[in-house]
Amino acid sequence: MAGERRRRGGEGARERARDRATRREQQRGPGRGRTALVIAAAAAAVALGVAAVATEWSRWSAAARLVTPHPAPPALPPDSTGPLASPHRFWGTYRPHVYFGMKTRSPRALVTGLMWLQQGEGGGSLRHTCEQSDGLSRYGWLMHDGVNFGVQEIRDKGLFLKTEFVKRLGGEHGGDWSWRITARMEGVGSPVPLLSLFFYVATDGQGTLKPHLENRTRLAAVTGTAEELGSFTLTFLRPTTESREDPKYASYNYLEAASPGLHRLTEVVRSSLSNRFVFTPPGGPRRRFFAVDTFQGLPGEHPREGQLLLHQVTLEPPGIVEVTFESGSVVGRPSRLAGGALSAALSQHVAAFEQRFEETFGLGRKGFPLPQQRFAQAALSDLLGGMGYFHGRSLVQSPLQEQPVAAPEAVLFTAVPSRSFFPRGFLWDEGFHQLLLARWDPVLSREVIAHWLDLMNTEGWIPREQILGEEARAKVPPEFLLQHSETANPPTLLLALQRLLPDAPLPYLRRLFPRLHAWYNWYNQTQAGPLPLTFRWRGRDTQPERFLNPKTLASGLDDYPRASHPSPEERHLDLRCWMALASRVLAEVAERLGEPAGPYRVMEQALSDNGLLEQLHWAPELGAFADYGNHSAAVGLRWQSPAPPAPGQPPAAPQLVREVREAPRLRFVGALGYVSLFPLLLQLLRPDSPRLPAVLAAMRSEQQLWTPFGLRSLARDSPLYMQRNTQHDPPYWRGSIWVNINYLALQALHSYANTEGPQREQAAELYRELRHNLVANLYRQHAESGFLWEHYSDSTGRGQGCHPFAGWSALVVLAMAEDY
Ligand SMILES: *[C@@H]1O[C@H](CO)[C@@H](O)[C@H](O)[C@H]1NC(C)=O
Ligand SMILES: *[C@@H]1O[C@H](CO)[C@@H](O)[C@H](O)[C@H]1NC(C)=O
Ligand SMILES: *[C@@H]1O[C@H](CO)[C@@H](O)[C@H](O)[C@H]1NC(C)=O
Repeated sequence: MAGERRRRGGEGARERARDRATRREQQRGPGRGRTALVIAAAAAAVALGVAAVATEWSRWSAAARLVTPHPAPPALPPDSTGPLASPHRFWGTYRPHVYFGMKTRSPRALVTGLMWLQQGEGGGSLRHTCEQSDGLSRYGWLMHDGVNFGVQEIRDKGLFLKTEFVKRLGGEHGGDWSWRITARMEGVGSPVPLLSLFFYVATDGQGTLKPHLENRTRLAAVTGTAEELGSFTLTFLRPTTESREDPKYASYNYLEAASPGLHRLTEVVRSSLSNRFVFTPPGGPRRRFFAVDTFQGLPGEHPREGQLLLHQVTLEPPGIVEVTFESGSVVGRPSRLAGGALSAALSQHVAAFEQRFEETFGLGRKGFPLPQQRFAQAALSDLLGGMGYFHGRSLVQSPLQEQPVAAPEAVLFTAVPSRSFFPRGFLWDEGFHQLLLARWDPVLSREVIAHWLDLMNTEGWIPREQILGEEARAKVPPEFLLQHSETANPPTLLLALQRLLPDAPLPYLRRLFPRLHAWYNWYNQTQAGPLPLTFRWRGRDTQPERFLNPKTLASGLDDYPRASHPSPEERHLDLRCWMALASRVLAEVAERLGEPAGPYRVMEQALSDNGLLEQLHWAPELGAFADYGNHSAAVGLRWQSPAPPAPGQPPAAPQLVREVREAPRLRFVGALGYVSLFPLLLQLLRPDSPRLPAVLAAMRSEQQLWTPFGLRSLARDSPLYMQRNTQHDPPYWRGSIWVNINYLALQALHSYANTEGPQREQAAELYRELRHNLVANLYRQHAESGFLWEHYSDSTGRGQGCHPFAGWSALVVLAMAEDY
């Protein structure tokens, strides 16, 4: 939903690229026109030279402001995230897009990771980055505390892999860590296929690595140094049997290569594989297998200053392989963190995790059976295990510019919506992520929010999708890299900040405040609506004839129906409610700091005025709150035959185009769904509001929003319910159940149920039923499919969209805990 994020590839992607290109054309056209007019007028006024220069200058300065960082001191104090100030967070699984890997929170960090290959005819499939197309039936962190340790299980056809890590602090560079990979086959006859595990370490433009070989083919260790990390030794231990008592027979291969960039490591390894190797266990059959041989370079490669060292161990499962990383600055190390010591450390961390999980969420106390507690632990852990540390530059463009430009280098510590499909930062998702993480680790949440606010430019704009660095970029089709400077995204970070406020230290809030203020002003000024106290999302799709309903990516709700004909007359209800929330949070922060809060309070009161809200957004004919704009209630998609082909050309395919069967006019938009609920979701509606009964009734009506699995996004009796938006765009926010909005609904119902008012009883009943439905379905789908999903079918409850999606779907943990 953060805009193109929810977009799938293929045809739809190409179509959108075309749309965007046309949009740029259109933006350019009038821009040039304006310049011409100004110049003509200036000529008439004899001030020709001056005016033309002034216009150019204003364009140039707008372009410069776009990439100028905000002048306020950074929200993160300098050096507060490095190995000295924050040693326990220095190393982490901060590469969410690989099945297993670690790196440090440094720009151009050294990376470590795992690939595997089940040997077979034709070489099998090399696994490395999380890909839906790999078809893994399960993977994800079962436990991960965000700092010290993690336990992940992976199921790849008959192969079961457990990947565990433990860190041990010491020295001045984040200390040591160890990995243990446990492999076995399940439900596979003999002979068991051979398994190759590839452990690698790679640099990204800084640092050096030195291999240490045994018998010319076994990479026993790597020593090296890197900025911030200092010197270290990485040791690849020999495999053992599952009981860890006996050595396990294995073949060893290794690769040393110049790395053409971290995003191409899979290709380097794949292109180096050869099956000229033979596995010869004593007394066993000889078998050929694929192993890294020599690396000949990749097509299109340009020289880099990166090094890759890779250790391949090939064995017949079951078996266990351990790897240790030892920091050069640790003195008086008690023992190597391997074998029994590693097992002991793991069990200590597991016990501590279980205790802290229960203390934080109390699911045992609430009577959830163990399998459901495990499910909730996995949801939280997968969100924590999806934390990433990114470094690079965004590609940004303002409507005044012809060409996109690179924003300054930035770093971002953030959770990600999906390790496979969206392994990067998304502004509106992140606020929801931090609602959960703030309960587990408020210090982490505060740091993440500060990271995001430090991405702000001097205008107060934060690009909503953060595609930083080559690894992140490699996951995004080139046409979607651009961030447009007029485009907002819901300020959900303020939801998380509101949760953190009671315990947030004043110096932290003081550093945040100038940036919060600038961010608020940016929304208030750039997304203002046609009337006072109304708001409008900018950047809707132009060219309405191409879509059943032009999308509003900025809102996060992509294809949720809005006015059929985008115009400056529109007023968007959800944005108005977000602004009320923003005013409330800004006022609270200002009051905590003794800063002037008056203007925010005035704004909050005006935006919460239920009378004005009704006047601007209550649609009597719909019996619900709604957007307002230039809208036709009768539109449809129709097949259009193409123009006859030119001689000798094949005929073009017919196309779906929009047909408007009734002229649009200014009126309320006839769509009942999530947007209609916003006054309730963000608790602007007074408990005694005469509209509350109708809102609750729409939620409970099966013809409208109620399902046995949660609230659907668009009423079943709404004209665009489950309608495709184009030939290539299936419905997205037009019926499916989304967990973030359901969480907000539970939060609001819980609050109405606990406040005096005529609807109190009804709110309480709805709350109980909705919570039961949502939790039961997410648990059931997870048990069946192994994953949390992006959204859920309103007819079957089944997971849909991408997976794994332990982004905001992990909010189910808070629903179980009744923590709002
Ligand atoms: C090298 O290989 C020989 C023969 O296979 C073996 O006996 C010896 O232990 C190996 N040395 C090391 C250091 O692994
Ligand atoms: C938001 O913008 C309106 C219109 O420009 C202005 O009157 C109001 O004071 C602004 N609110 C705040 C809190 O800055
Ligand atoms: C509504 O859209 C139609 C079709 O684009 C346009 O002709 C009309 O002027 C618009 N009305 C308003 C009030 O914007």
